[in-house]
Amino acid sequence: MRTRMSLALLIVSGLMLSGFTVKQDRNMNPTQSSNDSIEAKIDSLLSIMTLEEKAGQMNQYNGFWEVTGPAPKDGDAALKYEHLRNGRVGAMLTVRGVDQVRAVQEIVVNESRLGIPLIIGFDVIHGYKTLSPIPLAEAASWDLEAIKKSAAVGAAEAAASGINWTFAPMVDVSRDARWGRVMEGGGEDPYLGSKIAAARVKGFQGNDLSDPLTVAATAKHFAGYGFAEAGREYNKADIGTSTLFNMVLPPFKAAEEAGVRTFMTGFNTLNEIPVTGNEFILREILKGKWGFDGFVISDYASIEEMVVHGFVKDEKMAAKKAVEAGVDMDMEAYSYVNEIVGLVNEGKLDEALVDDAVRRILRVKYELGLMDDPYRYLDAQREKEVVGNPAHHEAVLDMAKKSIVLLKNERNLLPLKKNGQNIALIGDLADDKNSPLGSWRIASDDNTAVSVLEGMQKYKGNKLTFVQGAQLVVGEESFLTEVNFNTTDKSGFPAAVKAAKNADVVVMVLGEHGFQSGEGRSRTNLDLPGVQQELLEEVYTANKNVVLVLNNGRPLAIDWAAENIPTIVEAWQLGTQTGNAVAQVLYGDYNPSGKLPMTFPRNIGQTPIYYNHQNTGRPEDPQPGADMVWWSHYMDVENTPLYPFGYGLSYTTFKYDNLKLNKNQFEMGEDVQVSVDITNTGNYDGKEVVQLYIRDLYGSTVRPVRELKGFELVELKKGERRTVNFTLTEEELGFYNNKGEYLVEPGEFEVFVGGNSVETLKTSFTLGEE
Ligand code: NOJ
Repeated sequence: MRTRMSLALLIVSGLMLSGFTVKQDRNMNPTQSSNDSIEAKIDSLLSIMTLEEKAGQMNQYNGFWEVTGPAPKDGDAALKYEHLRNGRVGAMLTVRGVDQVRAVQEIVVNESRLGIPLIIGFDVIHGYKTLSPIPLAEAASWDLEAIKKSAAVGAAEAAASGINWTFAPMVDVSRDARWGRVMEGGGEDPYLGSKIAAARVKGFQGNDLSDPLTVAATAKHFAGYGFAEAGREYNKADIGTSTLFNMVLPPFKAAEEAGVRTFMTGFNTLNEIPVTGNEFILREILKGKWGFDGFVISDYASIEEMVVHGFVKDEKMAAKKAVEAGVDMDMEAYSYVNEIVGLVNEGKLDEALVDDAVRRILRVKYELGLMDDPYRYLDAQREKEVVGNPAHHEAVLDMAKKSIVLLKNERNLLPLKKNGQNIALIGDLADDKNSPLGSWRIASDDNTAVSVLEGMQKYKGNKLTFVQGAQLVVGEESFLTEVNFNTTDKSGFPAAVKAAKNADVVVMVLGEHGFQSGEGRSRTNLDLPGVQQELLEEVYTANKNVVLVLNNGRPLAIDWAAENIPTIVEAWQLGTQTGNAVAQVLYGDYNPSGKLPMTFPRNIGQTPIYYNHQNTGRPEDPQPGADMVWWSHYMDVENTPLYPFGYGLSYTTFKYDNLKLNKNQFEMGEDVQVSVDITNTGNYDGKEVVQLYIRDLYGSTVRPVRELKGFELVELKKGERRTVNFTLTEEELGFYNNKGEYLVEPGEFEVFVGGNSVETLKTSFTLGEE
């Protein structure tokens, strides 16, 4: 065992060898350090690090106060403190606030031998204290600038609270609404998902990682977690190569190209191999083909869970597999800190792999400016000014309005008239200040959303009567435990019916509770929980003028409502400013323009349902009316969705015409120019997401019936007409085959342009010679 004296000597001799120490090398501005100088510093540092210290850099511990996974073991806190002191921790998560972060950073900097600062991670999923809409809702805006800004707001608040690194964006493409984590992502489409992934990465990271108002981002969960079988959380994902390369990987690749500094693995297996031990995706694709030079972190305890999966015999083998596969940092499994030293000393693990992992981690620490100043992000005054800043409330309100999708608007119920109306507002969620904050919001305070009731009360020209109708949740509302619903108590129904009878218009706020989606929240039912469906039907019987405002973290199967209720507004969980956003849309002060980023099924049995499916050999009834069964269909419900991907209305109407290509026959390698005219034909100024889809009619692997390949958000005044142009290049026209090779093949293509994935204009062209 080394004594203090020998440690000191070691440091001094290390210094002389390397020419610097971490502890003394803190006067340089990181933005002035070139990559070369960072690499040289890492070389020097690596040369004086012990194996224990290297393994320490690869170890991340959860904080002592909050958990986002299974509860910590007894005695963990004491052990963690000890490890902080002796250089065996490189990062922490869920430590937050300048004071807490300073406390752990000081231990490491002052007491560990080399004083290499910690990097502090946190789940800034849709904001920190001031909350944006849940990510799926933001995706519905198709507004990349707004999404980037929203990420930047979350980054600023988190960074000002001492956080250096967010575990976001989640870029898992997901087609299955049963899976609770669809709320965290960009929906079902790889093209839209890629654009959003890049926007979020840029929003979080800004242009300068060492800026104390930016954080490093994480593309997660690499890869395939969104394909959990049957939508059951943590379940296996079986994904064919073509689907993996064309549907699952593109948003990760886009995040990498946008400069994301870390990747997180997942809890799932991918084709029978846990992704945390998956050399193919981590070493071969991510670090090999894509040349990613940041670092990879496991998901929470997912290294040791490889034992439970039945992939390795014990924790030691789990650690070996994970390092070899390319996982550089272990989140809260203790596997690296426990096993790496032994593995290397016994010749079972190549130390060069350990060095590579440490190099990657140190690189990001340098880029963040932590190596130059470990307290760079710790300024109490800045924390006070930035967290909850009024400008952030403006930004999340803007984002919230942009996220709302108008699904149906018959009888002209919306926008609501501002005066002389008798409005009944019904539903427990209307008066809820907690649920609209959504899931994943560890740093925000409970009950801080503006409720829909509060938002609507600001419009004083009408008489507003609020009635709960039925209590939604029974018992505790917590991020950690199940939400239980009232399924029996309908004693509030008569008051709701009475209010409805007396009203000109009834606004009903119904849907899922905010803690009903997110991690660990899979469902086998996509209905309105509790007694809400019955309440809706009773109220509708009393007054047909119902505006249904939905709150939900996933697509719901609302076929009855879609059939009967004249007006439906998809308002997701919109974060801190929910009520103001909803009220401004209902009253027409904001004209909605959101479009669904996920298909809404008619019923749960259609799930997973998505627009970019393949055709099958028997897609249509060959003899309608003959009742023949020999085609791809269900006996009890049609194949089409309730609301398709890309769907959403406005208070105005848009007309598309004049879809044109610059020609119809193209050489290989030539770009295809597409143009279309769009006119605002209604009575309001408005915005529309013009969407372009293609179909490659035949290929060496079968291509989907439609694939989104471009979109533009256009703003048109009443009566205004505009030409929108798109260019299709090899990037849009090709695809990955079953070997993971990117190909552009000659053949015939169809081009569709419109306001959703179904109602489109169509033209076609030929590429190359066949
Ligand atoms: C588990 C989740 O899967 C992951 O997304 C999250 O970042 C970590 N826990 C840390 O909270």
